[in-house]
Amino acid sequence: MDFLAFCRSNKFYVRLQQSYFEFLQKTRYTAKRESKWRNMMYEAKDEEATKQFAFLLGQAAKAGDVVVLTGDLGAGKTTFSKGIAEGLGITQMIKSPTYTIIREYTQGRLPFYHMDVYRITTGYDDLGLDDYFEGDGLTVVEWGNQLGKWLPEDYLEVIIKKDPNDVAKRIIALAPHGEKGSALSVKLMKAWSEN
Ligand SMILES: Nc1ncnc2c1ncn2[C@@H]1O[C@H](COP(=O)(O)OP(=O)(O)O)[C@@H](O)[C@H]1O
Ligand SMILES: [Mg+2]
Repeated sequence: MDFLAFCRSNKFYVRLQQSYFEFLQKTRYTAKRESKWRNMMYEAKDEEATKQFAFLLGQAAKAGDVVVLTGDLGAGKTTFSKGIAEGLGITQMIKSPTYTIIREYTQGRLPFYHMDVYRITTGYDDLGLDDYFEGDGLTVVEWGNQLGKWLPEDYLEVIIKKDPNDVAKRIIALAPHGEKGSALSVKLMKAWSEN
C-alpha cells in the first residue's frame, strides 16, 4: 500500500483533509479583503429583503453600468428591478417590460433603462442595445443572459434562485464580468455589510 492509499484508508486523514479545506477557505476570504466580495452570495429571506439588497445596488450604480438579471420565471427579476429603481430615487411605478421590451425612467439620480428580452430571440440589432449600454444611465436587463454576443463586455450578472424549501426565500449571487461589473459588486457588498 502506498502512502496516499494508506492515508485515504485512515479516518484521521479525512478529518485532516476537512480542516485543511476550512483553512484554505478562511485564508482565501481573509487574504485579500476585496476577494470576499468578488463572487458574493446573499440570502434574501423575503421579497422585502430582495428589494433592500437591490436598493443598495441602485444607490451604488454609476452611469454606463449594466446589470443582467438571470433567473427563472417568477424568480424575482422584476422585483429586484423595482428595488434598484427605488435606490436610484425613482418613485414612479415600475412595470414589467415583458411586452414593451424597454422602458426608460428619467426621474432618478441616473436614467434607468429597464429591459426584458425574454420574448426576443432574433433581431437584437434593431434594439440599439449599445446605445443603452454605453449611455449615461443604468441598464438592467431581465433574461440578459440570452443576449449572447450582444451582451456588453462589462456587466454585473445577478443570479436569482428560488429556494425549493421556502417559497419566500431567494439566493442572490453576484457574478461580475469585467472591471465595472466588479467595481459595482464590490461597492454593493460594502454597502450591504455596512447596512
Ligand atoms: N424573496 C423574494 N424575492 C423576490 N420575489 C419574491 C420573494 N419571495 C416571494 N417573491 C414573489 O415572487 C414573485 C417574483 O416575481 P417577478 O419579480 O415578476 O419575477 P421575474 O421577473 O423573475 O419573472 C413575486 O410575486 C414576488 O412577490
Ligand atoms: Mg420579470
